[in-house]
Amino acid sequence: MIDLRSDTVTLPTKEMLEAILDAKLGDDVSREDETVLELEEKAAKKMGKEAALLVTSGTQGNLVSVMTHTNKGDEVFMESESHVYYYEVGGMSAIAGVIPHLIPGNRGQIPPEKLEEAIRPPDIHYPNPRLVIIENTHNRAGGAVIPPENMKAISDISHDKGLSVHVDGARIFNAAIALNMDVSKLVEPVDTIMFCLSKGLSAPIGSLVVGNEEFIEKARKNRKMIGGGMRQAGVIAAPGLVALEKMVDRLKEDHDNAKKLEKHLREIPSLNVWPVETNIVLIDISNTGYDSTQFLLELEKRGIKAVPFARHLVRFTTHRHITEKDVDEAAAIIKEFLK
Ligand SMILES: Cc1ncc(COP(=O)(O)O)c(C=O)c1O
Repeated sequence: MIDLRSDTVTLPTKEMLEAILDAKLGDDVSREDETVLELEEKAAKKMGKEAALLVTSGTQGNLVSVMTHTNKGDEVFMESESHVYYYEVGGMSAIAGVIPHLIPGNRGQIPPEKLEEAIRPPDIHYPNPRLVIIENTHNRAGGAVIPPENMKAISDISHDKGLSVHVDGARIFNAAIALNMDVSKLVEPVDTIMFCLSKGLSAPIGSLVVGNEEFIEKARKNRKMIGGGMRQAGVIAAPGLVALEKMVDRLKEDHDNAKKLEKHLREIPSLNVWPVETNIVLIDISNTGYDSTQFLLELEKRGIKAVPFARHLVRFTTHRHITEKDVDEAAAIIKEFLK
């Protein structure tokens, strides 16, 4: 099988598993796990912020961040197809009690003038506008990179109007690598970031929420409230440290392989391939005569796994277990199938 479903299928490296065996452990609810402390300190430093909090998943990190930034009934702005709205079980409404305000974007970017229009002046009828969420890279926009100019413009408008800015940066390192930019520079204008260790970075579990000391202290309590206080969490942090220190630069390989897949797939006339910027390749299959379910079934019979993104949209994701040869082979199989 050539498994192109997601970068979340990546398995921990041997070094990560060995790091678990050697990790210094303690009770992290009491802040006694040295490995967690080390990971949180390194994560904060890497992002150029004061402090960080280890959470179990990206979903938990985004939820804790929304809970910490807002009060019940507040209005939160985000791009219409953002992960936090589309795929996080409605947690921001069900648990944080906020109301999402969706702004249609251009390749995942919130148009600054649209945000400016959307944030209304205080009025007794309106919810309190409180937070803006940027997703970088943007998953449903095909792994699109949100450039620093957009991050800055969105942050400036938000801050001027008294709102905070959170980044769903599940794949923020993919964005930084694609931009050839220091990640801390990219997130400089925003207040908080969630990033994942368990996607392209290959750690088995874990994400981090990063922000200032006061925010992280409050977030730690919110994490505890939703059952995310962990005990000997160094077993998660140890492979996380390897992910953070050793796995970031190799993401470039995933991007190169995705680009190669894009190039091959563009040679197939019935496919409409979205522009590739990072490790995600989206193809529109409207002209093939198949819908995504049928198309993926046919691909699976031929040894390729991918995921449906819409009725006629399919997503391929490159990652550490996908080689250049896999990409050539997958493209050849798809070409032959659609011939
Ligand atoms: C952009 C984005 N944000 C958040 C998440 C949530 O991460 P997790 O699956 O760890 O909850 C994902 C997961 O795919 C994602 O792609």
